[in-house]
Amino acid sequence: MNTETLASASAEIEQKGFLDLEVDPTLDLFAEIERLKKEKNAIVLAHYYQDADIQDIADYIGDSLGLAQQAEKTEADMIVFAGVHFMAETAKILNPTKKVVIPDLKAGCSLSDSCPPPLFKRFKEQHPDHVVVSYINCSAGIKALSDVIVTSSNAKIIVDSFPQDQKIIFAPDKNLGAYINKVTGRNMVLWNGACMVHEIFSLERITKLKVQYPKAKLLAHPECEEPILRIADYVGSTTGILKYSQTDDAQEYIVATETGILHQMMKASPGKTFIPAPPDNGCACNDCPHMKRNTLEKIYLCMKYEQPAIEMEEQLRLAARKPIERMLEISAKAGL
Ligand code: 13P
Ligand code: SF4
Repeated sequence: MNTETLASASAEIEQKGFLDLEVDPTLDLFAEIERLKKEKNAIVLAHYYQDADIQDIADYIGDSLGLAQQAEKTEADMIVFAGVHFMAETAKILNPTKKVVIPDLKAGCSLSDSCPPPLFKRFKEQHPDHVVVSYINCSAGIKALSDVIVTSSNAKIIVDSFPQDQKIIFAPDKNLGAYINKVTGRNMVLWNGACMVHEIFSLERITKLKVQYPKAKLLAHPECEEPILRIADYVGSTTGILKYSQTDDAQEYIVATETGILHQMMKASPGKTFIPAPPDNGCACNDCPHMKRNTLEKIYLCMKYEQPAIEMEEQLRLAARKPIERMLEISAKAGL
């Protein structure tokens, strides 16, 4: 690609967050993405909340922990991250010599945005004798202020690894924090953040669905609010929810997390019925607008032009890496 094309692509990314070039509508994007994977020695990592067609072209689909583990160990030259910004940033922190591209730089996260580093720094200073445990759904700036990172797969194990009398700040998700307080018997100080997708499930509409489907089990992500978690039959990460639905012998499930997960659930258990839990806004199911910014076209373009790419200042990367490494070590010891 010549310098002029690169410069105009960079300007467009700065303005829009993604490349908006015309993609030939006759192009077989599935075949083109496969071709680019080979040509550029690239790997596509996708979160379960991505659209079904993106999951179908991915080399690995997983939850935040699985995606971080894959990003750390991959030997591919280019990591194409079909997820949101903090996930791609984590991949770059763990594997800095690789090019990490993201289909849309503006694929953010309401939870991560609810915790700006300067405010959190002040909050931390108000609790000097506390260690900081942060959910991976946060910026590199917050990670750099943390002692250890957790995901919904390992939060309990990691919190349990601290002595019972250790004072802890948990950020940024107050719902996951409250759930971990409950299952560990702790009293962690919680940052007041939440996920815009998981905090709007409607208890009333879910209760009506339970009456309509009396044999259905309710599966919920711990980012949901407490009244939903209290009536859930299973609470866990996206991987946990998927595994539970495969091994459990019920035939019907109400699923209280983002709808993208249903694609793998239906693929793994084609005979079972999966009903998305409804939010309190009148819609039937609940999509994350950030995750859903990614499209096959944007994946194709970011692979072709190798942009937008995640870049980060080295000092910040090193500071953010430490608590992630601690998480990966504890997880590996626990067999996760
Ligand atoms: P997990 O897939 O790690 O459970 O996280 C859910 C989520 O909200 C990711 O943004
Ligand atoms: Fe963030 Fe919630 Fe979307 Fe996950 S589902 S990326 S936590 S806004």
